[in-house]
Amino acid sequence: LPQIAELIGLNRNEPYALQTLLDFEEKFPAAGSKRMLVAEQEGEVVCWGRTMRMPHDAPEHRQIDVASLPAFRQKGLGTAMLETLVGIGGESLKANVRDDDAESLRFVERHGFVRYRHLFESRLNLETVDLDLLWQAIDRAEQSGVRFFSFAETAMDSEAKRRLWSVNSISNLDQPGQDEPKPTFEDWCTIVTDAGWFEPAAQILAAVGDEWVGLGAVGTFSPARYYNLYTGVLKPYRGRGIATALKALGIRYAQSRGATSIRTNNDSQNAPMLSINRRLGYQPLPGWYSLKKEISLAS
Ligand SMILES: CC(C)(COP(=O)(O)OP(=O)(O)OC[C@H]1O[C@@H](n2cnc3c(N)ncnc32)[C@H](O)[C@@H]1OP(=O)(O)O)[C@@H](O)C(=O)NCCC(=O)NCCS
Repeated sequence: LPQIAELIGLNRNEPYALQTLLDFEEKFPAAGSKRMLVAEQEGEVVCWGRTMRMPHDAPEHRQIDVASLPAFRQKGLGTAMLETLVGIGGESLKANVRDDDAESLRFVERHGFVRYRHLFESRLNLETVDLDLLWQAIDRAEQSGVRFFSFAETAMDSEAKRRLWSVNSISNLDQPGQDEPKPTFEDWCTIVTDAGWFEPAAQILAAVGDEWVGLGAVGTFSPARYYNLYTGVLKPYRGRGIATALKALGIRYAQSRGATSIRTNNDSQNAPMLSINRRLGYQPLPGWYSLKKEISLAS
């Protein structure tokens, strides 16, 4: 597993903590399905592949990942791995490839995957972030009557979890590019609140009166780096600076945990989110293409 974590990190251009992989393996929902394969040479993992389906995914859906060590590319390993994973099953296959990795894009496209979505990635340096800008954003929202608190400050019982799920899933309904089936409350608990990465204090909520109207969630997968997992605001409350304040609070939280950067991925068509990130000082990085391959069993 340490070698697999290293390969995943190489593919993401950012270290991937072994603990994150261990937690993922240990807590993977029983109702989902997952197979991992490796190619080894003299005890070293030189190629890794995974095919998986979460419980809420359509039965035919599979997310496929393949990564070879740079020195072991162009030797047919990736092809053998991909073909084996495709052969395991699933008729609607998805893969994500970095948009600046022409070789890997050519590889998956040669195997019949087609681009359908572009994610922009960006990162904020927490050592140089404009703190005044963050405080102003939080202050402005609070002055307008919005209250902010973390999930850790709630009872964290089943009712609170249901409210968290609700604000997450309802605000997410019109996120550009989110055409996948949504998890039920029970499935969502297995993949979110029961997951190893879930930090109650990093789930920041916005409320107006008693209603939870927005959520800004952050988390960490590698030392000293945080990730913006999700930001969403219920439709009637948008355009009032709530998401900007939630992001500012997430940034402050990551700083308080000793992080030096925070990263995010956003659909190229998500104009409001991209505008918020630009204003807070996030700097563009290479992003990702999502690709899919439909396999017809009809013939
Ligand atoms: C993205 C989202 C969280 C923004 O919430 P919000 O509370 O309305 O955000 P704010 O009011 O803080 O800021 C919105 C910004 O987007 C800008 N904006 C809104 N629509 C825009 C558009 N079509 N084009 C460009 N900018 C736009 C606003 O001008 C504002 O920027 P400003 O403060 O510099 O003027 C909300 O639209 C949402 O929940 N969408 C669905 C979930 C989603 O897509 N989440 C992001 C993925 S993690």
